[in-house]
Amino acid sequence: MSMINQFLWVIFPYICLAVFIVGHLYRYRTDQFNWTAKSSEFIEKKKLKLGSLMFHLGIIPVIGGHVAGLAIPQSWMEAMGISNHMYHIGAVYIGSIFGILTLGGMILLTSRRFTIKNVRQLSSASDMIVNVLLLFIVFMGMYSTLVTNAVQPEFNYRENISIWFRDLFILRPDAALMANVPLSFKIHMLAGFGIFALWPFTRLVHVWSVPLNYAGRRYILYRKHRKYES
Ligand code: HEM
Repeated sequence: MSMINQFLWVIFPYICLAVFIVGHLYRYRTDQFNWTAKSSEFIEKKKLKLGSLMFHLGIIPVIGGHVAGLAIPQSWMEAMGISNHMYHIGAVYIGSIFGILTLGGMILLTSRRFTIKNVRQLSSASDMIVNVLLLFIVFMGMYSTLVTNAVQPEFNYRENISIWFRDLFILRPDAALMANVPLSFKIHMLAGFGIFALWPFTRLVHVWSVPLNYAGRRYILYRKHRKYES
């Protein structure tokens, strides 16, 4: 059993993170031309717009919530005056609102990809896998937040999962911290790490190409024409 735990909570996360980094370097060097989310808007627009908007509006605060809950130690939050009770209320209510938005978006996007024939035919196997896996991860996250937390209110993930998570990044991994974590959280996290390993080989690479400078750039760009330069 301890061998399995060591694999799941130490070796597997490190493999996923290593593949995430090396995979991106490999993809960037060998396949820049296909570095895209490959739009299917010309086939179907309505569901795509709503689903994509819901998913992206939801996932950004959800990521913020993960940073607050996993990266920031409970004691630091308490020192800032945020008690465990306050944190929990915030995490469950705010987390659930944005989680439901994310889940609704993923349901729309996945049903669109599988039920509209032309979108399905345009989709690669990796598009399908990313869709289903994201839907599954978000569903298990919501299940843990709403159902498991309600059934086991004494469970506090900041006393085990969060410490285990931070220990990975300071290279002092400790699988024992995960021993008493409820199954739904465990499944959520394994699938969550899994998507990092798939990331560089899928449409998810588009995340690194969001044109952030678009928001602040000048409306009209003037460029010099080399030919007339003196
Ligand atoms: C990589 C490791 C990950 C870990 C350790 C992790 C951990 C957690 C934990 C502990 C919760 C429960 C929060 C609570 O009870 O208040 C949660 C919820 C959630 N997670 Fe993750 N997660 C990971 C990856 C992901 C990924 C990749 C996604 C989305 C694609 C995701 C989406 C969600 C959602 C939607 C919820 C429920 C709403 C919320 O609390 O924000 N998680 N996650």
